[in-house]
Amino acid sequence: MTKAPVTVTVTGAAGQIGYALLFRIASGQLIDAETPIKLRLLEIPQAVKAAEGTAMELDDCAFPLLESIDITDDARTAFDGTNVALLVGARPRAKGMERGDLLEANGGIFKPQGEAINAGAADDVRVLVVGNPANTNALIAQAHAPDVPAERFTAMTRLDHNRAQTQLAQKLGVSVTDIRKLTIWGNHSATQYPDLFHAEVGGKIAAEQVEQSWLADEFIPTVAKRGAAIIDARGASSAASAANAAIDHVHTWVNGTPEGDWTSAGVVSDGSYGVPEGLISSFPVTARNGEFEIVQGLEIDEFSRERIDASVAELTEERDTVSKLGLI
Ligand code: NAD
Ligand code: LMR
Repeated sequence: MTKAPVTVTVTGAAGQIGYALLFRIASGQLIDAETPIKLRLLEIPQAVKAAEGTAMELDDCAFPLLESIDITDDARTAFDGTNVALLVGARPRAKGMERGDLLEANGGIFKPQGEAINAGAADDVRVLVVGNPANTNALIAQAHAPDVPAERFTAMTRLDHNRAQTQLAQKLGVSVTDIRKLTIWGNHSATQYPDLFHAEVGGKIAAEQVEQSWLADEFIPTVAKRGAAIIDARGASSAASAANAAIDHVHTWVNGTPEGDWTSAGVVSDGSYGVPEGLISSFPVTARNGEFEIVQGLEIDEFSRERIDASVAELTEERDTVSKLGLI
């Protein structure tokens, strides 16, 4: 049975993540295999031609679900009536930079995009910010969309979640599907905290199945610094894995998390776990009926508390910085 079409706006459509993302959206992997897709591609004027080239290739795939492709350099046009907004367009960091160093260069992109979403997006709009620093850019966009429920603005930490899953699976010699209840807390940055104290493998706590030294000295830094390791190896920041995580994030948001499991996403804090209200921080979340909900009631030991607090302190600093820059 064919469903009503969904309008999906992708910013930075001519970039490397855009190239890895658009074909997967158009093939039906973002929502489901029955929902037609109307694509809106937003680019800066200099990159519109390259986006047109990608659109030609999308046409050449003859995707049954792809109803239309519109390309524009105008944010109002791009977000008019949009149901899913993937805010990817932003500068990536280069070798030796932290993602927070991009705040000044990229922050300014998200104010007009938040305003355009506020002005014209569909009532059910869901926004995922991928462009770095993702959490604080999401905060900027959200601050400029007062008519859109704040919880519709999210930031991507699913890539970190997926990275953590594979690191743990490889360590224990199990399949990624054997792992449940993994959590990325805090910022999508080197301070993020991948938590194994609530994660389960074969129904038992993951942290109890690995050496404490591996957890503290290998697992956490490997996951937290994976983005930099990719830049080092590839000479460019992650693209296909980032696009894959964006697909996972939205697919889960719309279709739900499995019973007995959760995922990680940067969502607006309601004050849970001592994270100041309003910050967009990564939490353990379930998704039901198209809404993310922060998992409540987890016990946080001292080891975890310290790390969550450090990442949240960084988010608070980033919020102060963009406030001083007049971006929120
Ligand atoms: P890229 O440089 O290949 O592409 C970025 C594109 O955005 C370019 O085509 C550029 O023209 C476009 N752009 C710039 N300003 C724009 C604007 N105002 N409106 C619309 N488009 C605009 O970069 P990329 O590798 O695709 O990465 C994009 C962003 O995603 C970077 O900030 C990167 O750091 C980030 N990223 C985040 C994650 C995550 O897990 N959250 C993972 C990987 C990359
Ligand atoms: C990643 O985690 O791969 C991205 O955020 C890109 C980066 O700058 O590390």
